[in-house]
Amino acid sequence: MLVASNRGPYRFDPEADGSFRAHPGGGGLSSALRPLLGDPGVEAHWIAAAVTDGDRAAVRAGAVHAPDLDLVLLDLDPDLARLHYEVVSNQVLWFLFHGMFDLVHRPRFDHDFREAWAAYTAVNQAFADAITTHAPHGDVVLVQDYQLALVPGMVTDARPDLRVVAFLHTPFCGPTSARVLPTDVAESLLGSLTRVPVGFHTDRWARAYAASAREILGTASDPPTFVAPLGPDAAHLAEVADSAAARAALAELDAVVHDRRVILRIDRLEPSKNIVRGFAAFDRLLELHPEWRTTVTFVALLNPSREALPEYLAYRDEVTRAVDAVNARWATSAWQPIVCDTRDDFAGSIAALERYDVLLVNPLRDGLNLVAKEGPLCNRRDGVVVLSPEAGAYAELQEAVVEVHPYDVEQAAAALHRALAMAPDERAERAARLRTLAAARSPRTWLDDLRRTAGA
Ligand code: F6P
Repeated sequence: MLVASNRGPYRFDPEADGSFRAHPGGGGLSSALRPLLGDPGVEAHWIAAAVTDGDRAAVRAGAVHAPDLDLVLLDLDPDLARLHYEVVSNQVLWFLFHGMFDLVHRPRFDHDFREAWAAYTAVNQAFADAITTHAPHGDVVLVQDYQLALVPGMVTDARPDLRVVAFLHTPFCGPTSARVLPTDVAESLLGSLTRVPVGFHTDRWARAYAASAREILGTASDPPTFVAPLGPDAAHLAEVADSAAARAALAELDAVVHDRRVILRIDRLEPSKNIVRGFAAFDRLLELHPEWRTTVTFVALLNPSREALPEYLAYRDEVTRAVDAVNARWATSAWQPIVCDTRDDFAGSIAALERYDVLLVNPLRDGLNLVAKEGPLCNRRDGVVVLSPEAGAYAELQEAVVEVHPYDVEQAAAALHRALAMAPDERAERAARLRTLAAARSPRTWLDDLRRTAGA
């Protein structure tokens, strides 16, 4: 089995003695797949881009050695890699699939975009070449995500013997949005993807993709798709929750929140996560319901992300201003309404998941949102999940969550109040149901679905 993804399962940092150490990489995909590598029957080769300076140095030193798999990192030309990742993948495809364009102003597909599109094509070709070089005859190839959308077509052309499956961890847009792309770009992306079965976390994105493919390619029938939601790795979560780091993080959190109720969110600092409207809803909650002033703390664990992009830096500033405004309005000498932490600390996140009374997940649109499933498995307080129907995970969890409208701040404030005020027996009932629903899928069932679709 060969996995291809832009961000790999490990990043490499130089040590003082000149060697390189492999650290588990960030991102939902690699943390889901990494624990499975080395399981019986999962003999994996993984091709990814060298993303950090340490990765590139490790490639040049011939020091890319991962503990549990055969890893190849591609040392791409930095300009090509930047245009591929930042411009086409993140500024165009990510914005399109998450419905984030303000179409009066953006996107604008000018000469610079054409240069970026050429870079996207070249990087996809580099991945395709590496795959066709490394994959033995008849191998299963699992291509991950929108950064590599041209790879399925390129690989299938060059090596018809390979059994290629693609999986998109994002939402997909419908035909009206797909038509925003330059016609040849939309045709190339969909023309490539439709050569192989494409998987999504929920049926809604699969249907949007099929409708876009039919319209853009002018085909009468649906392209092959499958739905395979990812689930949390319950054993790994339990192991981390028991660790000394998580115990220390929980003690640190308890010292901040004391015995108050906790509204928690854990997100990348990412515009599609709708963080600012979440704080606006909390502000409105405090305005409408004085009983929650001083008795609830909103804990926001926000990991900085894609900071080379001006959109993300501007959003980070907006988030900071929103936190400051709510705190300036409501704080007392003994209570800080919003506590925001931007450290990237997995054990700390798991500890916070144990402690929440309300988990707020209100994205504008989200492929899945694994936190919405990890929360119920880690939580020890019968916490309520307040979830946007625009998150893929909603399809599986809806019967036991409180729904939150991502754009309706009044409704969101009411949803937070409902969750905080819920009677203990209803909380317990919903939490028990959520644990069952959230545990129904795992990284293993997800991977098995991909391999089965590939005919493995
Ligand atoms: O949701 C799609 C995804 O690519 C995930 O696999 C990843 O966790 C996230 O977006 C962030 O991606 P990156 O930091 O590599 O741009």
